[in-house]
Amino acid sequence: MNLGIAGKVAVVSGSSSGLGKAVAYALAAEGVKLVLFARSAAALQAIASDIEQKHGVPVLAIAGDMRITGDVERLVAGLQQKFGAPDILIVNTGRPPKPMVEVLKENDDARWEDAYQTQLRGAVHVANRIVPLMLGRGWGRVIAITSATVKQPMPWHGLSTIFRAGVTAYMKHLANEIAAQGVTVNTVCPGLIDTVFRKPEEVAERMKLIPLQRMGRADEFAATVAYLASEQAGFITGASLHVDGGAVASLY
Ligand SMILES: NC(=O)c1ccc[n+]([C@@H]2O[C@H](COP(=O)([O-])OP(=O)(O)OC[C@H]3O[C@@H](n4cnc5c(N)ncnc54)[C@H](OP(=O)(O)O)[C@@H]3O)[C@@H](O)[C@H]2O)c1
Repeated sequence: MNLGIAGKVAVVSGSSSGLGKAVAYALAAEGVKLVLFARSAAALQAIASDIEQKHGVPVLAIAGDMRITGDVERLVAGLQQKFGAPDILIVNTGRPPKPMVEVLKENDDARWEDAYQTQLRGAVHVANRIVPLMLGRGWGRVIAITSATVKQPMPWHGLSTIFRAGVTAYMKHLANEIAAQGVTVNTVCPGLIDTVFRKPEEVAERMKLIPLQRMGRADEFAATVAYLASEQAGFITGASLHVDGGAVASLY
C-alpha cells in the first residue's frame, strides 16, 4: 500500500537501535525524509548513511539525550535548519532500569528518577518542543511508543507501567488539544518484540502468554507505526494500539 507520505519530514527519537531504528527504515521506505535522534553518534550516523543509500531520502543524524534540554534544543535547531517544519513525530524512548523488580522493592530514588527521566520526561520534553512546529499546517502525525504493560501490567514491569501510563495520558490530552489542527496523536504498545537478547527461560515463560506463540519482529511493529503515520490513518487519533501477538488479555 502506498501510505501517501512521500516527501514528508519525520523526527524519530531513540532511533539508533531496535524499534526506533526499524520505524526509521519503514518511513524511509515510504519516501519520508528523516531526522534521527539518540545518544550513540556513531550508530546513528551509520544508520543515516545506510538509509540514504538504500532509500534515497535525506537523513539528518543528531546525537543527543532526550533528558537534556540543550540536546533537544540542538535537535530542534538542526531539524529547522535542514528541513524546516516536521510533519511526523515518533517519540521512542530508552528502556526502564534493570533489574526488573516488584514495585514494593523499588526503594531506590535513583531508579525512580531514571525511569521518570528516560520514559516520561524525555518523551514529554521532545513532544513539547517538536509538536508546536507541526501546528498551523493542517496535517501531522504524532506516535509515541510505550508498552503493552499500560494495558495489562506485567510482573516486575512497575517502573515501565507507571511512567508509560503517564506518556499515554499526555498523548491523550495532546490528541484532544490539537485534533482541530489536523494532527493525529496515537500510542503504540509493543508486547514482546525481538530487538535485544533475552534469556531463553524468560522467552519461554513469556511465550506461554502469547497466543501467536512467538516474539514479534521489529519490522512488523514498524509497519504498524508507519500505517498510523499514513494518509489513510487520518481518522485515528487518541488511540492506544497494542502490537503483542494477542498477549493483552482484555477486550480492548
Ligand atoms: N522490544 C520490546 O519487546 C519492547 C516491549 C515493550 C516496550 N518496549 C519499549 O520500547 C522502547 C524501544 O525498545 P527497543 O527494544 O527498541 O529498545 P532499544 O533497542 O534499547 O532502543 C532504545 C532506543 O532509545 C535510545 N535512547 C535511550 N535512552 C535515550 C536518551 N536518554 N535519549 C535519547 N535516546 C535514548 C537508544 O539509543 P542510545 O542508547 O544511542 O541513546 C535506542 O536507540 C523502549 O522504551 C522499550 O522499553 C520494548
